[in-house]
Amino acid sequence: MSDGSAYALPKAELHVHIEGTFEPELIFALAERNRVALPYQSVDALRAAYQFTDLQSFLNLYYAGMAVLRTPEDFAELADAYFRRAGAQGVVHAEIFFDPQAHAARGVAFETVIEGLWSVVRASEARYGISSRLIMCFLRDRSVAEAMATLEDALPYGDRIVAVGLDSTESGYPPSLFRDVFDRARAQGWKTVAHAGEEGPPSYVWEALDLLRVSRIDHGVRSLEDPRLVERLRDERIPLTVCPLSNVKLRVVRTLADHPLPAMLERGLLATVNSDDPAYFGGYAGDNYAAVADALGLRTSTLVELADNSFEASFLEPAARAAYRVRLESAAAALSG
Ligand code: ADE
Ligand code: ZN
Repeated sequence: MSDGSAYALPKAELHVHIEGTFEPELIFALAERNRVALPYQSVDALRAAYQFTDLQSFLNLYYAGMAVLRTPEDFAELADAYFRRAGAQGVVHAEIFFDPQAHAARGVAFETVIEGLWSVVRASEARYGISSRLIMCFLRDRSVAEAMATLEDALPYGDRIVAVGLDSTESGYPPSLFRDVFDRARAQGWKTVAHAGEEGPPSYVWEALDLLRVSRIDHGVRSLEDPRLVERLRDERIPLTVCPLSNVKLRVVRTLADHPLPAMLERGLLATVNSDDPAYFGGYAGDNYAAVADALGLRTSTLVELADNSFEASFLEPAARAAYRVRLESAAAALSG
């Protein structure tokens, strides 16, 4: 697939962790500015360490990298860098995760994080032509009490957040642990999503649906192991935010050619393609479209279906969603014409 459609098609990115867009060059620049020592001698040495064997081996580096973020300006610079890259990948709408607990753990206040990110997110449409929303994630390998306290911290900024999510180490931390937190979040008017079925079993996807009442499942690739779950996801049109390059780097699948994305689409699932932690996994949204197109021999019409799914699965208002879908149709027609 070399017609450029992977990049040219307008798309929504629904699964990207802002801390996972932290490129080594910027990590080093902010480390110097904030006088934080890094255990790596150079950008190249840091990048060379990006060899992962599973989710945890990645998370260890991910949390270490973000430790240089200290001020609202740091978070704003991180977000600005993401939008600049995303624009070149055809991203016209982004729903962006952030991990406040990972910053609070080193004394960075919720206010610092949200003020920095919001200063860029609120202006993203005007500055970069990309509409955007923020999704606050709870770290599932930390306590329920801490998640609840984080939710309380977020309440004064409720209108800057579209949804809450659940991420970090999956195995051993089922969604059911966070039922009360998610009840509270929904009562607050926030939508809910959760990482489930990345490394964890299909039962975690069931729990996310039944107990956390999520609108989307992040990853969800292991759902295919349970035919009844596939039926449920298909019948209720529950979106799955699939991250192909991430799945290869974290060894959820062996190679891209083995990726279950085509099987998901064949079974009628509302699958979308996303980047997860692009600075660590070797590609942003368009790069993920291009990589699956190449490895799996996807036609342009399938890429258009994936892009259309991304708008259907988004938290956009109906009118904005419809407008993006019309824009996608025009772009697709221009490519085939
Ligand atoms: N945090 C950042 N990336 C993640 C992933 N792929 N799974 C779980 N938590 C994450
Ligand atoms: Zn993720």
